Amino acid sequence: MRIIDNIPNSWCEPWKIKTIEHISLSTREEREAALEAAGWNTFLLPSRLVFIDLLTDSGTNAMSDEQWAAIMTGDEAYAGSKDFERLEAVVQEVYGYKHLIPTHQGRGAEHILSQTLIRKGQYVPGNMYFTTTKFHQEYAGGIFEDVIVDEAFDPNLEFPFKGNIDIDKLDALVKRVGPEQIAYVSLETNVNMCGGQPISMANARALHEYCSKRGILVMLDATRAVENCYFIKTREPGYADKSIADILHELCGYTDGCTISGKKDCLVNIGGFLALRDDKLALRARELLVAFEGLQTYGGMAGRDMGAMAVGILESLHYDYIRARVEQVAYLGKRLDSFGVPIVRPYGGHAIYLNAKQILPHVPQEKYPAQRIAGELYLEAGVRSMERGIVSAGRDHDGNEYKPALELVRLTLPRRVYTQSHLDVVSEACARVCKRADSINGLKMVHEPGSLRFFQARFEPLGVPAPGAKKAMAAASR
Ligand code: F0G
Repeated sequence: MRIIDNIPNSWCEPWKIKTIEHISLSTREEREAALEAAGWNTFLLPSRLVFIDLLTDSGTNAMSDEQWAAIMTGDEAYAGSKDFERLEAVVQEVYGYKHLIPTHQGRGAEHILSQTLIRKGQYVPGNMYFTTTKFHQEYAGGIFEDVIVDEAFDPNLEFPFKGNIDIDKLDALVKRVGPEQIAYVSLETNVNMCGGQPISMANARALHEYCSKRGILVMLDATRAVENCYFIKTREPGYADKSIADILHELCGYTDGCTISGKKDCLVNIGGFLALRDDKLALRARELLVAFEGLQTYGGMAGRDMGAMAVGILESLHYDYIRARVEQVAYLGKRLDSFGVPIVRPYGGHAIYLNAKQILPHVPQEKYPAQRIAGELYLEAGVRSMERGIVSAGRDHDGNEYKPALELVRLTLPRRVYTQSHLDVVSEACARVCKRADSINGLKMVHEPGSLRFFQARFEPLGVPAPGAKKAMAAASR
């Protein structure tokens, strides 16, 4: 017998599978017809024709037996549900905010927060935009200003905290417009649009110091805060021995409130909330809540959903769980790396992002290369992904398309749903698409909704690129 010296010490999921849902691969002809009918928009594909669904990690979580038990014992009282009390206690303990304002999902909380805090013409600086967050800030009359660090815009740069706020950029804005013209600073954890990249605790602390001196509020988008805390634990000096719960508590401590889409970190399929420290703000927010969402003790959620969320939040804090979650994403990243597929570095917390500019250098951004790759990946293996580039960015007030530095395709992993073999299939499909990149052209947009266009826009494929197009484009961009 000869056993190797360096035996690996692998992680594995701290759960086993009790219920399964069948999936099957459609034929190439079925997928071609489905993609055409969907106008090359993966949001418009029927899920029954998707094999492996990496569209989003939102609401696609598998719940535990204990969460299903909470569903069965949910209290559906219109007022004063026991599950509100249960969720309120968990939110107060885990996140440390006094007031829980439950909403139907994250954007419901963003709506209430924006309407509560933003006066017309005020600025809302943030670490890159998120689509619905920015929509609600602008809908309330605010002006979004990106103050993320420059490192975020380079997909190939290995930098541990690409989500950080650049305090100098923030300071320049504050000096330009005055602190009273800042509605609040919007601080997102594991920044979605730049590749699921975390913020550091040092950055949150520095931001808190800067803002509290000037009377500026900091509002956390804690949608993926637990995943962010895993990166703090594994990357930031001084946090290796702290629990995820302690790290999360400290992080929230530097902020005045948070919005959360419970459909991610909280391990449920629907729900969200706004949480606030200040009594007066909470009073104002609750007035809007009863008009737009529902009574203050359910907002937008059924009693059972609040119960399942309370259990999910506690489960999400277990180290073995969060390690398996984030390391599964890294597993997909490593497989793609081994094939040479260009992806955003470092690996994100909830998703791996393909770098479309590098995969299709011959397709200009206004021909939607990332949207096209998402379509090709579906044709290749029934894998559903999502564009996060020029289509998602939309247009400015003058009607010009924003041209974001990052043109990405997001492969998003639902929590506790897929196995490593699913990810083997996904990574091989990506490699095959990249292998035939020379023959792939862009898309033409044929239907464009006025806002949040990526959800419902429709496209038609452009023909095979002319021979030599790739070389000419590469030469032009040099
Ligand atoms: N904030 C972030 C960072 C998000 O990623 C999302 C949703 C929201 C807020 C809004 O929450 O969907 O519950 O209303 N992100 C989903 C995604 C849609 O696919 O990334 P919601």
